[in-house]
Formats: sequence, structure tokens, C-alpha cells
Amino acid sequence: MSFLVPANRRTGDGKPPALIWIRSERRTDVAARERLLDAAMGADRFAKSSERLREGRKPALGLALAARFGGRLVGTLRLWPVVTASGHAALLLGPLAVDADARSLGIGAALMWQALHRARVLGHRAVILVGDAAYYNRFGFSAEKTGALRMPGPTDRERLLACELVPDALTGARGLIAPRPSRLSRLVKRAAAIGPVMGQAVPAAR
Ligand SMILES: CC(C)(COP(=O)(O)OP(=O)(O)OC[C@H]1O[C@@H](n2cnc3c(N)ncnc32)[C@H](O)[C@@H]1OP(=O)(O)O)[C@@H](O)C(=O)NCCC(=O)NCCS
Repeated sequence: MSFLVPANRRTGDGKPPALIWIRSERRTDVAARERLLDAAMGADRFAKSSERLREGRKPALGLALAARFGGRLVGTLRLWPVVTASGHAALLLGPLAVDADARSLGIGAALMWQALHRARVLGHRAVILVGDAAYYNRFGFSAEKTGALRMPGPTDRERLLACELVPDALTGARGLIAPRPSRLSRLVKRAAAIGPVMGQAVPAAR
């Protein structure tokens, strides 16, 4: 998707509107995305408890977004499959960051709405994040359903927020939030539990 930022919003009087593109992240965006995140969040971003749910894993399919303007990356947002100890499947949202030079143009909001739209279309049921309610309330996030949930690390309780994409998707959700294994690894685990069915040793004929 793309959208126009009117010239009177920070882009300066007399200048043409700016065209912002929101699209799926590509491999070629990765280096710029990491630089943007370092600048926006600092080097200690890897110490956050959310990082424990992301490290060594891939974002949910179709849910790594890049915002581009004038040939450069100006925004990033990714979502990750997680599951609560009570078995409620959800997505963890973040990190969300917009280049300091391009803030307050609606790019953060466009990334959020596009991500929530895609998540809903892809059949996800709920989204969880750690962030400022003052920013995320506008997208439907609150701490209403997160009181009994726990991140794998220290987290301010009032910053643990959720948005249900399907009504009551997080009703009764409780306990530790953990990475959700991919469908393939669930299948492999199930197959391993069943045990070998082929190639078993056949007793030698007498
Ligand atoms: C938060 C962030 C992604 C917003 O991006 P953006 O493109 O500027 O967002 P939008 O244009 O949609 O909205 C901007 C508005 O949100 C407000 N806002 C930004 N961060 C906020 C926060 N933490 N709490 C409350 N309001 C906030 C801005 O003041 C601005 O208000 P205005 O429209 O009255 O000027 C961006 O400020 C950023 O990258 N910050 C650093 C990284 C970060 O904090 N990420 C979020 C992690 S929780």
C-alpha cells in the first residue's frame, strides 16, 4: 500500500506531497532496518524481554513490514507468533520504529493499521505488545486482557498491552508468553512422539 503525506505536514510549504510506501520487508531492507532500530532504540534494545521471544526466530509470514520514502527505509514493524501458557495463540508486535526525520507524518500509524489488517486477513486472533498505552490505545490496545500474562523477563505491567482481532480471543489467557513453534516443527514433534512406522527391523526368516 502507499499513501500521500500532505505537504503541510512537516514536509514544508510549497513542496509536493510525499509518497510513502508500506510493503513487505525484503532481504535488501535488513541492513537499513537494523541501523534504523539502533538509532531509534539504542544498543540495549537486545536486552528487552520482547527480544527473548524473537531471538533466532523469523517473523510471522507476511508480517514483516517496511515503510519507504524517497528510496530509503523510514519505518519498520514486525510481528512474531507466540502462545500463552494457557494455550492462547497470538502475535507479539514489535519493534516499531520510524526514522527520526520522518516522525509525526503518520508512518507509524500506517504501519500499525497495515499490520493489524494483514494479521486479521491471515487468520491471527490477537496481538500483544510491550509499549506506551498513550501511543497504542488509538489502535485498540489496552491492558484489559493482559493482567494474568507474563513476559519472559522484567516488564512494566501497565506496558503489557493486547488487541483482540477476534472477540474474546484472549479471554482466560494467563501465564508465560512463549515463542509459538512453527507448524512444521509441531508436525515433526508429533511424528517423533508417534515413533518410527517405516523401516523397522524385520525378523529374519527361518
Ligand atoms: C513511536 C513511533 C514509532 C511513532 O512513529 P510516527 O511515525 O511518528 O507515528 P505517527 O505519525 O503515527 O504518530 C505520531 C504521534 O504519536 C505521538 N507519539 C509518539 N510516540 C508516543 C508515545 N510513546 N506516547 C504517546 N504518543 C506518542 C507523537 O507525539 C505524535 O503526536 P502528534 O501527531 O500529535 O504529533 C516513533 O516515534 C519512534 O520510532 N519512536 C522511537 C522508537 C519507539 O519508541 N518505538 C515504540 C516502542 S514502544
